[in-house]
Amino acid sequence: MTDLDLITTAQELVAERKGILAADESTGTITRRFSAVGVESTPETRRDYRQMLFTTPRIETFLSGVILYDETIRQSTTDGVLLRDVLVGKGIIPGIKVDMGTTELANFPGEVVTEGLDGLRERLAEYRDMGARFCKWRAVIRIGDGTPTRGNLVANAHAMARYAALCQEMGLMPIVEPEVLMDGDHTLERCERVTTATLHHTFEQLFEQRVLLEGMLLKPNMVVPGKGSLEDMDPTAVAEATLRTLQRTVPAAVPGVVFLSGGQTPEQATMNLNAMNQMGEAPWELTFSFARALQGPAMEAWSGKAENVQIAQELFYQRAQLASAAREGEYSETMERATTRLSG
Ligand code: G3H
Repeated sequence: MTDLDLITTAQELVAERKGILAADESTGTITRRFSAVGVESTPETRRDYRQMLFTTPRIETFLSGVILYDETIRQSTTDGVLLRDVLVGKGIIPGIKVDMGTTELANFPGEVVTEGLDGLRERLAEYRDMGARFCKWRAVIRIGDGTPTRGNLVANAHAMARYAALCQEMGLMPIVEPEVLMDGDHTLERCERVTTATLHHTFEQLFEQRVLLEGMLLKPNMVVPGKGSLEDMDPTAVAEATLRTLQRTVPAAVPGVVFLSGGQTPEQATMNLNAMNQMGEAPWELTFSFARALQGPAMEAWSGKAENVQIAQELFYQRAQLASAAREGEYSETMERATTRLSG
């Protein structure tokens, strides 16, 4: 495995018309999402759900990669085929979430740091042997009264940089995900300031840890007003603020920015990505690595029932198709309405 392999993986993941499906919800997270649609969360229901997503006909047209969770990379379909092999068979690159979630940061009340560096080299070796080609690590930054602090941003950035360096050592392409949460009633302008500081510290630490920028991808939040804010979500304002933030902090050597959806509706996340791509000034490929904004309607329609698999797959396919259009700046409200009519 060489630098060239890391660079190739990064470039393949941000190939034209394509983006990434984040299907790496931890057991706790998917259990919460399942319970919202009345589905019991067991290893079998989680397998059935992800099998439904991955076997969606022609989904590879829009997906370059899928981020898996530890349980999923080890599971097989009801026919006994490893789920990861289903993806490889469709030309989709399997990746794996390797962080171990967040914990309270000592001395920083209300702030969290992501864990998972202990034993990471050995875990990465196992995932690489299973065929994973890339990894993901998520840091969580909360906007609050007096937070985030510099100490919190540096601690998270340092952990992300140590993770990214280890991944590259093991020949796995790292996705670095510093997520500034949408929770709160903050303005878009405050989100911009916090995201700028977060990315500034992230790239400073990536430099300190000698991470190859050409062989990584950044997965940030879009710059949006807080969920409880009274500000409207205006795609032009979001796109301008997000691009300005990235231009001030992200080196052009990074091949791509793959956004999370972060609790935006599928329509909002798609519209905002589209607005950025229509501005057409970025030195990086700008695409999606959504979980909720790709899966939401499909999970609801599926509701744990085998007879709903086909409609759920159609809805998943439609969201991926719309996100792919947004990745090219070709999405429109007309397309969205036509899709809603089909599914409605
Ligand atoms: O870590 C979060 C996921 O990778 C992205 O999920 O699009 O629902 O924010 P989301």
